[in-house]
Amino acid sequence: MVDVAINAMSEWAAQGSNANTGGFFAAADACDALLESTRSVVGEFLGADASGICLGANMTTMTMAFTRAVGRTLKPGDTVVGTQLDHEANVSPWRIACERSGAQHLLTPFDVKNGRLDMDAFSKLVTDRTKWVAITGASNLIGTMPDLNAAIAVAHKHGARVFVDAVALAPHKQINIRELGCDVLATSPYKWYGPHAGVMYVEPELLNSLPVAKVRAASETGPRKFETGTPNFESIAAVQAAARFLIEENMQRLAEIESAVFAPLLEGLLDTPGVTVWGPHDLASRAPTVSFTVDSMSPDQVAQELAAKKIAVWSGDSYAMEIVERLGLANSGGVVRAGIARYIDDEDVKHLLTTVRGLVSR
Ligand SMILES: Cc1ncc(COP(=O)(O)O)c(C=O)c1O
Repeated sequence: MVDVAINAMSEWAAQGSNANTGGFFAAADACDALLESTRSVVGEFLGADASGICLGANMTTMTMAFTRAVGRTLKPGDTVVGTQLDHEANVSPWRIACERSGAQHLLTPFDVKNGRLDMDAFSKLVTDRTKWVAITGASNLIGTMPDLNAAIAVAHKHGARVFVDAVALAPHKQINIRELGCDVLATSPYKWYGPHAGVMYVEPELLNSLPVAKVRAASETGPRKFETGTPNFESIAAVQAAARFLIEENMQRLAEIESAVFAPLLEGLLDTPGVTVWGPHDLASRAPTVSFTVDSMSPDQVAQELAAKKIAVWSGDSYAMEIVERLGLANSGGVVRAGIARYIDDEDVKHLLTTVRGLVSR
């Protein structure tokens, strides 16, 4: 978390306005004002109408609540089209909604050679029966950024709505929901230097019409429909601070810095004999995240060796189960994933490459 977000959280907790919304006294007014100003700043960060910004626990919980509502509008004969590039959080909630409603859940494949989404297959899977498309903005495992504009155009041509999982996109690229034209977009502020929380934009008219499961006292309209119970105000204060920080830092500038740090990492891994890079081998339309395996070592073993040198990488499927399955790596422990965030620099990349090369030459 950036300092401004940490400070915003502790200042909120310390300043004495820990009440709830909707009262006649100052502490309650402060809670109302915090929600409103946070929707406004996050709306600015995401290029979206603030009245569609819902705040919650994390992306998965919010997506589960969202698909529970959508599931009540689905019926046998309908389809929901997802992708194999998606994280489980944008696969299983839709699978469950389809199972319960009798709708069909279809997943668009990707090209194993280059990690790119098969847009021809996508265009065939989306038909007039499709009610929802659930697509990632960036793969959390192999970095691929599908062409969201093209996918949204195909979906809308058939009258389908689009849910974008932007958890792995938002930290790395400027998002503008108005320009994208998607109906829903979910992100996790803890991936963009904020606190553990979730943010989900829902197009305001859709938000008002969805049959959301909620207590009777909760609002029938607007974001509070999805914000069950008492909001996590101290976390929301930090979400606002993190969004403001990124607006000021400028996402385009951050993306360029990250890309310059990432390029030698990708190139170095591609040039190392005994290392296989999975997913795109180029820098176009991707997040600065790369997955690889090392010959004769399991991903867990590699991650343990790197951890011993103070390098933090994940091993396994990182919940991108469909990708690992399609790459044929599900029974061999998945992949090792390394990613660049703003606080990673050239020296970190060199250290990782030297350590991986040391493993290969043993
Ligand atoms: C692409 C992607 N989608 C969804 C999620 C789930 O987010 P959350 O932890 O906020 O539920 C993650 C988490 O890593 C992710 O990487």
